[in-house]
Amino acid sequence: MKILIIHGPNLNLLGLREPDIYGNESLNDINLKIRARAEQLKLEPVCRQSNHEGVIIDWLQAAATEKFSAIVINPAAFTHTSVAIRDAIAAISLPVIEVHLSNIYKREEFRQKSLTAPACQGSISGFGSNSYLLALEACKLQTNP
Ligand code: DQA
Repeated sequence: MKILIIHGPNLNLLGLREPDIYGNESLNDINLKIRARAEQLKLEPVCRQSNHEGVIIDWLQAAATEKFSAIVINPAAFTHTSVAIRDAIAAISLPVIEVHLSNIYKREEFRQKSLTAPACQGSISGFGSNSYLLALEACKLQTNP
């Protein structure tokens, strides 16, 4: 079962970027953790990162044709700004799970609102890179009830 993992803007800088908030792991470290857990769950993850809203929308729209069964997305700052990503999530029929490394609900007020989460099946926020691993568990449960 193929799972698309989408990392949004600035997540390519993980490890260097505000480590007190986002931790010391690089995006590559996190992708390795995702692959290891996915293997145990018999999922096939494909990890992508983009700093560009339109690229993320194109990936969401193409996911069903590319035979993905579910999507895990960290929209990063687009979480709080992008009606276009929200609409793309709402437009597709695959289960989409939103993840955040930090707990967005205990940060600045502008981060406490997710435009994208209401279009998702669910969201996981605040467990560092383990948020992605929890999302993989959710994918497994949601696609194999
Ligand atoms: C983030 C939280 C967002 O508010 C922020 O813009 C990010 C990362 C997280 O994973 O905690 O870039 O999505």
